[in-house]
Amino acid sequence: MQSRVGSFSSLEEGQVPHRIMHQYSKIFPLRLLLLFLLLGVGIVFLYISMYTYRFVSIHSVVSPTPSRIQTHSCVEGSKNLEGWIKPPSALLHEMNDSELFWRASFGPLIEKYPFKRTPKIAFMFLTRGPLPLAPLWDKFFKGNEKLYSIYIHSLPLYEPEFQPSSAFYGRQIPSQVAEWGGMSMCDAERRLLANALLDISNEWFVLVSEACIPLRNFTTIYTYISESRFSFIGAFDEDGPYGRGRYNGHMAPEVNLSDWRKGSQWFEIGRKLATDMVQDTLYYSKFDQFCRPHSCYADEHYFPTMLTLHSPHLLANRTLMWVDWSRGGPHPATLGENDLIERFFTETIGGGSCMYNNQPTNLCFLFARKVAAAALDHLLENSSKFFGI
Ligand SMILES: *[C@@H]1O[C@H](CO)[C@@H](O)[C@H](O)[C@H]1NC(C)=O
Ligand SMILES: *[C@@H]1O[C@H](CO)[C@@H](O)[C@H](O)[C@H]1NC(C)=O
Ligand SMILES: *[C@@H]1O[C@H](CO)[C@@H](O)[C@H](O)[C@H]1NC(C)=O
Ligand SMILES: *[C@@H]1O[C@H](CO)[C@@H](O)[C@H](O)[C@H]1NC(C)=O
Ligand SMILES: *[C@@H]1O[C@H](CO)[C@@H](O)[C@H](O)[C@H]1NC(C)=O
Repeated sequence: MQSRVGSFSSLEEGQVPHRIMHQYSKIFPLRLLLLFLLLGVGIVFLYISMYTYRFVSIHSVVSPTPSRIQTHSCVEGSKNLEGWIKPPSALLHEMNDSELFWRASFGPLIEKYPFKRTPKIAFMFLTRGPLPLAPLWDKFFKGNEKLYSIYIHSLPLYEPEFQPSSAFYGRQIPSQVAEWGGMSMCDAERRLLANALLDISNEWFVLVSEACIPLRNFTTIYTYISESRFSFIGAFDEDGPYGRGRYNGHMAPEVNLSDWRKGSQWFEIGRKLATDMVQDTLYYSKFDQFCRPHSCYADEHYFPTMLTLHSPHLLANRTLMWVDWSRGGPHPATLGENDLIERFFTETIGGGSCMYNNQPTNLCFLFARKVAAAALDHLLENSSKFFGI
């Protein structure tokens, strides 16, 4: 019994002598064999006692370490809820899109949070590089640190120069080149959403560009968004070549002509829709194949159509982004100092008419584009008059 244990416990050393011994057992006399056996038992016994001693001593030395490791991983790992609630400490990670989207699609199935959760608005800046209006946004954000988070997607090699005191400092996410009109633009938006979804406190997601400004103070915007029953994304059914004319019959039956929607890319959506957008593969492949410039522009149709098919009851079907199309042409007007006067903020912005939670309201827009970078000083100087900030 003991010899078996012995040969097992030192398998590699024991195997060869054992086989050799077996081979020679018929040749050697019985006495010699007994001697060998006795010797073997002795060695095995010696080995076992050494092993036991070593084990005991190692165990007694080592034993405090596993418990230290345990308490350590308790704080950082899954044994404590904090590890799941805390936002990732750094925004830069090494996940590629498939990995990131998969990770971002995780979500709780129990609606009630077993801890105090302060829902935040994720402001997602889709830019090429610089954010010339950042000082105005900084003023806008100031004092509301618990209620927002910022994510910036820019050209991959762009290196921002924000001061540590800025809300934009260190908020760059791993980015890739995005081209207007194509699916790569939707990918960039999904990348922003996915990164923002990793912070479980983010409840609403607002997409803006470097040429956008807020039109009200933070409190007003936060209240408007958080108390809305619907998500603000433009989704309308438009006849003619720029609407239904861009639909491709190959998308049926997943996407029929009657489902086809159009809207500008600047949206505000809730967490449920954000997760839908990140996890979608069905409609994504249809648009990737059949909605390509210049017969179709994915950034104007993919999300409005997909969300209309997925969750129509959650859509306000209008955007919060004010754009000046009054001057005609394919591009909206750029707003300068002379346009951004008090009357603009009161009458133009505050004098609309639209539905909010199924009630008529005058306040339809919370953001505007495109604002000239040169208007920054003018806006900063008059910010209390214009925005109440
Ligand atoms: C991400 O990495 C995984 C594993 O290397 C790979 O299978 C997948 O195709 C990659 N996805 C993208 C979008 O590059
Ligand atoms: C925000 O603006 C509203 C009016 O639009 C004003 O009543 C309110 O006091 C402002 N809030 C802050 C915190 O400045
Ligand atoms: C599209 O139309 C076909 C045929 O009428 C129907 O079977 C299919 O369910 C429709 N698809 C959607 C998404 O409604
Ligand atoms: C938005 O449009 C969808 C259909 O496309 C509709 O079901 C939904 O009720 C509309 N939302 C509102 C707030 O009217
Ligand atoms: C903006 O502020 C400047 C400096 O305080 C002032 O001269 C100018 O009249 C203001 N503009 C508007 C449109 O109120």
